[in-house]
Amino acid sequence: AKITYIEYDGTEHVIDVKSGLTVMEGAVKNNVPGIDADCGGACACATCHVYVDQAWLDKTGDKSAMEESMLDFAENVEPNSRLSCQIKVSDALDGLVVRLPESQH
Ligand code: FES
Repeated sequence: AKITYIEYDGTEHVIDVKSGLTVMEGAVKNNVPGIDADCGGACACATCHVYVDQAWLDKTGDKSAMEESMLDFAENVEPNSRLSCQIKVSDALDGLVVRLPESQH
C-alpha cells in the first residue's frame, strides 16, 4: 500500500509498504526520519507516534488498551494519535497519510 509520511517540517515521503508490515516498519526500512521506534515495535517506547489523517481514522481501527497507555508517554497526543508500530498495513490502507509530531523532528 502506498503510504504518505509527512515530517513535522512538511517534507513528504511516499512509500510503497508491503502488506503485513506495520506503518512503523515501512518508515524505518525506508529511512523516513522521525520514527525512531526504539523498542522495535513492541508497543513499549512511544517513539513511533504519528497522527493519522482524519480521513483514515476509520480504516486504521481502534487502539488497544496497551497502545492507549503507552501513548501517555508521547508528547502532544491528539485524538488521532497512534503508535505506528500498532498499525498493520493492508491493501485497505492504500493511500494512508500520517503526520509526524514535532517531538520526533
Ligand atoms: Fe516502540 Fe512503537 S516502536 S511503541
